[in-house]
Amino acid sequence: MSPQPQAAVGAPLSRVDGRLKVTGQADYAADRPQARTTSLGGTPIIQGVVHAVVVDSSIAVGRITAIDTTAAEAQPGVLRVITHLNAPTLPYRDNAGSNNPPGRRLRVFQDDRVLFHGQPVAVAVATTLEAAQHAASLVQVTYDAQDSSTDISAPDNPTNTPQTYTRGDAQTALASAAVRLEMTYRPARNHHNPMEPHATTARWDGDQLTVWDKTQWVIGGTQTELAAVFGIPVASVRVIAPFVGGGFGSGLRTWPHVTVAALAARETGRPVKLVLTRRQQYFGAGYRPAYEYAVRLGSDGNGRVTAMTHDIRSETSTYENFAERGILPLGQTLYNTPNVSQTYRTVPLDVNTPVAMRGPGFATAAYAIESAMDELAHELGIDPIELRLRNEPEADPSNGQAFSTRRLRDCYTTGAREFGWSARNPTPRSTRDGDWLIGTGMATGMYHTLRAAAQASVRLDADGTALVQSATIDMGPGTYTSMTQVAADGLGLPMRRVTFRLGDSVMPNAPLHGGSLTMASVGSAVQNGADQLRQQAIQLAVGDEQSPLYGADANSVVVQSGRMYVSGDPSRGETYERLLARNSRDSLEVLGSYSPAQSRFTIDAYAAVFAEVAVDARLGLVRVRRMLGVYDAGRIISPKLADSQALGGMVGGIGQALLEHTVTDHRDGRIVNANLADYLVPVNADVPDLRAIYLDGEDREADPIGVKGLGEVVLVGVAPAIANAVFHATGRRVRDLPITADALL
Ligand code: MOS
Repeated sequence: MSPQPQAAVGAPLSRVDGRLKVTGQADYAADRPQARTTSLGGTPIIQGVVHAVVVDSSIAVGRITAIDTTAAEAQPGVLRVITHLNAPTLPYRDNAGSNNPPGRRLRVFQDDRVLFHGQPVAVAVATTLEAAQHAASLVQVTYDAQDSSTDISAPDNPTNTPQTYTRGDAQTALASAAVRLEMTYRPARNHHNPMEPHATTARWDGDQLTVWDKTQWVIGGTQTELAAVFGIPVASVRVIAPFVGGGFGSGLRTWPHVTVAALAARETGRPVKLVLTRRQQYFGAGYRPAYEYAVRLGSDGNGRVTAMTHDIRSETSTYENFAERGILPLGQTLYNTPNVSQTYRTVPLDVNTPVAMRGPGFATAAYAIESAMDELAHELGIDPIELRLRNEPEADPSNGQAFSTRRLRDCYTTGAREFGWSARNPTPRSTRDGDWLIGTGMATGMYHTLRAAAQASVRLDADGTALVQSATIDMGPGTYTSMTQVAADGLGLPMRRVTFRLGDSVMPNAPLHGGSLTMASVGSAVQNGADQLRQQAIQLAVGDEQSPLYGADANSVVVQSGRMYVSGDPSRGETYERLLARNSRDSLEVLGSYSPAQSRFTIDAYAAVFAEVAVDARLGLVRVRRMLGVYDAGRIISPKLADSQALGGMVGGIGQALLEHTVTDHRDGRIVNANLADYLVPVNADVPDLRAIYLDGEDREADPIGVKGLGEVVLVGVAPAIANAVFHATGRRVRDLPITADALL
């Protein structure tokens, strides 16, 4: 078959939705009722929207002994105050599919029990936001508080049943190792803090529920969960999310406030808008759990790591067991270590349940493992890159499978060259710039290439434009743009004649928007649909006596700028429009699909991350001076969007390494820095010169469009690269994240 020309894929295009976003026309969940219909969908103005404000508990654990709503209900404009005393019983059918971890999920207003500080205990619904806020402030809740436990490092914490992994005999190998190291790393709890707060607008039309929601999964997530909670058919719930202002994983579950909004709408008979405050995000929507990660390393004198043990603990809630799936794989696959032992325990605490956050599991494991490798390199006097090369496996050491593509060696070499690694003096605290100690560090990143079944409808209209739809999400990576690129090339249309729509549960099914699987999965479905549709048009033409393409070999026909022609003979062809007009066809339409194939290979994306820091020796201040990431992520569909991912990942990693720390008052479980003034994230002044390099190539074993996923791997390895640079600058090894000034004084 003649190859279809590629014009859009691989081009550094700007976002097709960029103008809508910067002109305020993009349509977010809390924009009701003002939202307008735009070229990317959107929905009509909703009439009569009222406002809901959640009252949350001020104790961590205990019982509600009384709730007085009299004053609140007496306020003008207040429609209803709902508490466990007057709420209807909700079915809460089991729904393990939509990212609900094992356990019994929080059931809003179903009983008097409080399980964590900030749990919703009432909601005030009023005709204005101000009236609802005021009413919420007047709700008087009396508690019988019990002792709470919210500190993962408290002694004698009970733990859930551990997950374990063993190969070889790590204990014996450690005992005979020439060099043994033992360290415990403690990365802090982090919160996603997307710019857009979590918000839901809910409306009932009879038995039909429509929600406009901030979510990363319209069908398998919000739609199935609301159906389960209210005990109604999935088809009775429609979920709409055309724009999501950042997620980082916080939208991977349907949190209690979504149910609160839908319940308030049902109880008042009005469309209800509910926006969590920034403070409420901190216990309303999950977080990256705090960890204690103990590593023991055994090595021979040449840096060959013979044994590694990982004893890992992370926090979860008392009502659900959130165990991170991504915490164990890195320790099994990254290095060719014959003896590995892993034990992972979750610690149930009186907190709300954690959730995946960017690079989930892998980012935490990489912090511990890549810090430990740096410690070993220093102990042995071996260059950190050389140490990694000496432990680089030829095949997946966890199962013997070949790697589809694994170009970590190229990542290291390219990174070392471009970063100027050879100029490094390996001795810690050896390089100064005035009062600043200068250090460089590197670390490795890896993330599984996840794929899931996806569909996309593709319709070509008589005017030569195309509409492509899939119920995926764009939380920021540029799904609108990248899918338009894939569709445009597959159809042979210019970008401006293709519209991609997403974020509506009535569209063809798509998996959760997370785990870096959207491009691979939805992208492959879009490509499949575009290829099918192009072939359908070509078949129509070559069988049409009136077509200049009549009788041509369909395999030789390609399409460019909406014109089908014989490859090598551009004069013989015609446009889609002429073909459809002559055949009296309004449109052609197909359903593209993708389902992941079983593979004999291990398929992962890789990164090598390099950082230079400056540390003020007297003040303990750490400034990142420059960073470089080199990525083996398969084919890059959209280089400009890829840079947004990679640079954003580095910024997130700067936060994880140096700034981000959710602080809990363990007396009452209150998060004390539940705002963006006290929970520090990198600002422009914290973000230096960042550079990303993508190794050319593609991985057809991964998926038909050859991508390995990018959004997660770009975070993995950033924090340890910075931490290793801080050690190199100062000679001080800090094993807690974030690394704050006090630890360096
Ligand atoms: Mo990402 S943590 O899978 O949204």
